[in-house]
Amino acid sequence: MKTDETLAKAIASPKPFVKWVGGKTQLLPELEKRIPKSFGRYYEPFIGGGALFFRLQPQRACLTDINPDLVNLYTVIRDQVEALIEDLSQHVYEKDYFYQVRGVDRTAEYSTWTDVQQASRFIYLNKTCYNGLYRVNLKGQFNAPFGRYTRPMILDAGNLRACHQALQKAVIEVADFHDVKKRIRADDFVYFDPPYAPLSTTAKFTSYTKKRFDIEMQYELRDLCRALDQRSVRFMLSNSSAPLILDLYSEFNVEFVYATRSINSNTGKRGKIPEVIVTNYEH
Ligand SMILES: C[S@@+](CC[C@H](N)C(=O)[O-])C[C@H]1O[C@@H](n2cnc3c(N)ncnc32)[C@H](O)[C@@H]1O
Repeated sequence: MKTDETLAKAIASPKPFVKWVGGKTQLLPELEKRIPKSFGRYYEPFIGGGALFFRLQPQRACLTDINPDLVNLYTVIRDQVEALIEDLSQHVYEKDYFYQVRGVDRTAEYSTWTDVQQASRFIYLNKTCYNGLYRVNLKGQFNAPFGRYTRPMILDAGNLRACHQALQKAVIEVADFHDVKKRIRADDFVYFDPPYAPLSTTAKFTSYTKKRFDIEMQYELRDLCRALDQRSVRFMLSNSSAPLILDLYSEFNVEFVYATRSINSNTGKRGKIPEVIVTNYEH
């Protein structure tokens, strides 16, 4: 790596600009040590908060997600970060104001908003809603309630500018994960971080979007991994340690890692939960 690149990374180390359910910040050391030493392009088809992308800052990356509001936010940070910073500085942490901003996607006015205004609203709601939860109803309207914080940091201009730098050369698009199959080449590397399969049969599948990521999707993702493997594309995948997942990926390298997660949403109890990292290469 060139010295000026090293310096740029030291000055600005970007972190996820949104709180995201299933964010990978905790597992970064485990993920990082499994990254191949060299590869062509980096693919992340479930980008979410993008923790691994921001840690690695690969030169060439293709970042996609099915959530159009999230993808708009990434695009705005890449292309119009100063306008976003200016717009964000207008927001205030106040309950009535929160519900007013939240309610805009229930009106016709929302479609007249610019990409910057929509991105700014996304960050504002993410930083001030309950638990940073992204939740929409069947009409795609944001419905997480107001959250109690001491002083939520709605605007972190330094981090947004660092993310802007890291995203400069990235391809950012709305896409279903299956799309990766058409785009990827043999020397590329893909990291899959799908919504996790529930550990117990009574737990609900995590819903980030209008369309649920159900068992069938977990099968389709495994089939995609098989197809990539047959084309010698290297992939890494994280998921829960549910019996379904251990069974689906038994032909690949499956390793257990431990993350502190909320284990009971009613009591807020937290504990070390085993998760898995699957790879189709030696590391
Ligand atoms: C577990 S999160 C990713 C977390 C992320 N790696 C991080 O560090 O924050 C899963 C993401 O998958 C996206 N998603 C759900 N279904 C999808 C699909 N069919 N295709 C592509 N993305 C999907 C969700 O919008 C969500 O952003």
